[in-house]
Amino acid sequence: MLGALLLAAGRSERTRGLVTSMPLTRSVVDRFVAGDDLEAAVGAVRELAGAGLRVTLDHLGEDTRDAAQAEATRDAYLRMFEAFERYGLADGADASVKLSALGQALPGELAVDHAREICAAAGRAGMTVTLDMEDHTTVDSTLETLGKLRSDFPWVGVAVQAMLRRSEGDLRDLVGEGSRVRLVKGAYAEPGSVAFQGRHEVDRAYVRALRMLMEGDGYPMVASHDPRIIDIALALAVGRSASSYEFQMLYGIRAAEQRRLAQDHRMRVYVPYGADWYGYFMRRLAERPANLAFFLRSFVSR
Ligand code: FDA
Repeated sequence: MLGALLLAAGRSERTRGLVTSMPLTRSVVDRFVAGDDLEAAVGAVRELAGAGLRVTLDHLGEDTRDAAQAEATRDAYLRMFEAFERYGLADGADASVKLSALGQALPGELAVDHAREICAAAGRAGMTVTLDMEDHTTVDSTLETLGKLRSDFPWVGVAVQAMLRRSEGDLRDLVGEGSRVRLVKGAYAEPGSVAFQGRHEVDRAYVRALRMLMEGDGYPMVASHDPRIIDIALALAVGRSASSYEFQMLYGIRAAEQRRLAQDHRMRVYVPYGADWYGYFMRRLAERPANLAFFLRSFVSR
């Protein structure tokens, strides 16, 4: 209930204005976001790389209705690839891209064209790209774009949300050789008609999907902080080589566990940066009510 309210607030312009103008919000946001600019992201990535962690970089932004804004997001990714190459951080790094930030809702092929340019630049830098998955209304379009991109850049990956009832069907087309699938539980408020609603139902769907990925020929990316999911993934991965799958977690969440897993497994951290942190931050609050308490306490203890 509280989670659904926070997710609704995450899409409200009025609440955005209120939350982003609160003086102490920033210190709470900093737990989940590497910083406002590329320099801050580079600093965070250097620290993570020093601890043996791989990274995927997300230049924050979503739901763009403005072509100039979509272009600016594309350019931000291009600058990031250039900087990562220059600083020697590109090798093995990944970029996470939200098609809605590239103009997916705008008419024509704008988002596909921008995504193509992003993939071309990532490839030149020695990096890969993974498409984030947003709310269920965007899944068809995102998978269609994935298909177009993969014909030129076969290493492009995609996030699949276990909570969506359709995902097991989608995975049948995505478990083949060369595919890279990031399996997540799903962070958006979705109706019961399209998504499992209870935590246990979602967890069971996650395990079914995980089994499909681990039995498939692609490269599973197990994106979860849930200790039970991680144990199950380790059990299902028996017989696979250590370089044929990886774990992924979000920046600032279970950081000690990230480092522990990195000792014996491939572990990648999703590093968001940029000024447009509001939607991302609200989803992180919605995932865990304790985060909201922490956020509110920061005002009381001022
Ligand atoms: P679960 O929510 O059950 O959490 C398990 C434990 O992890 C909690 O008990 C707590 O200890 C810790 N935890 C989880 N979330 C926390 C938080 N916000 N703050 C503090 N602790 C927390 N979703 C989506 O819809 N589309 C996408 O493209 C992506 N992309 C993505 C990439 C990566 C690398 C990750 C790790 C996750 C995503 N997600 C996502 C988000 C995902 O769908 C999901 O909402 C979160 O990962 C939380 O689910 P868990 O699997 O961690 O389990």
